[in-house]
Amino acid sequence: MKKTVLAFSRITPAMAERLRHDFDVILPDPKQGDLNAQFNEALPHAHGLIGVGRKLGRTQLEGAGKLEVVSSVSVGYDNYDLDYFNERGIALTNTPDVLTESTADLGFALIIGSARRVAELDAWTKAGHWQASVTPNLFGSDVHGKTLGIVGLGNIGAAIARRGRLGFGMRVLYTGNSRKTALEQELGAEYRSLEQLLGESDFVCLVVPLSDATRHLIGARELKFMKPSAFLINIARGPVVDEAALIEALQSGTIRGAGLDVYEKEPLADSPLFRLPNALTLPHVGSATAETREAMANRALDNLRAALLGERPRDLVNPQVWKG
Ligand code: DGY
Repeated sequence: MKKTVLAFSRITPAMAERLRHDFDVILPDPKQGDLNAQFNEALPHAHGLIGVGRKLGRTQLEGAGKLEVVSSVSVGYDNYDLDYFNERGIALTNTPDVLTESTADLGFALIIGSARRVAELDAWTKAGHWQASVTPNLFGSDVHGKTLGIVGLGNIGAAIARRGRLGFGMRVLYTGNSRKTALEQELGAEYRSLEQLLGESDFVCLVVPLSDATRHLIGARELKFMKPSAFLINIARGPVVDEAALIEALQSGTIRGAGLDVYEKEPLADSPLFRLPNALTLPHVGSATAETREAMANRALDNLRAALLGERPRDLVNPQVWKG
């Protein structure tokens, strides 16, 4: 008998087709009513879940008695209660590597976009304000040759650092739990404490996973260490930054600007950030290119398929539960 897969966010028809080859597939359908109700009704039958953007832990999974694996179409896995997964022996997989370069591109888009005021000036031009050469009140800040501070020099952080160093001649600083000697040699990256990095950087780029240790890593105190001319870039997770403190820092001029892809509560709605010209706000699109999202979907599919067919999946987040 085929095992059952339940999708908890939209998957493409091609993905569903691939899955149907080996499994019975349940796809909650918005045309059939409430998606949550459909998901909860199907959950007791599911051996595997695939998707992104849903919190899953004890409360949500109590009725999922057959569940063997959750395949997340994301690299981050802060939505999942890993202790509970381990207690239940549920495997969790993610999609590392395939999104590294696209996410680094987006990080750099936020760096350039906020420094050169790209969205703000686009709106200004389209509003018909361009009557003569722009005056200094609309000038931006240089990116090339400046100091780039990476908080969390993992794969994505390193890919941003490479862009900064090799493409823009930037000096690269980094902070994190461990020294990265190979990257220090490759990019001339210099290790700093968080406070030192905040004080020296023109662009502070957050690329750490969300955990108890990184929740509100950047708050009012940390923002005050930054230069008034500096920019904060967050492509990590919203709760890494105390958003109220950031808004206050942007309003008061404690820092020059922010480029944000992630927020404490998503989707971001009716936020003071919307009214701040020095906040560049994107809707969590770090990996959202057609090519990368397809690669992530395929990687997640491969992981799910392997786990349900009894082969060790490539991207197992909690190997301790794997009995194969
Ligand atoms: C990821 O893959 O973690 C992206 O942020 C999408 O959630």
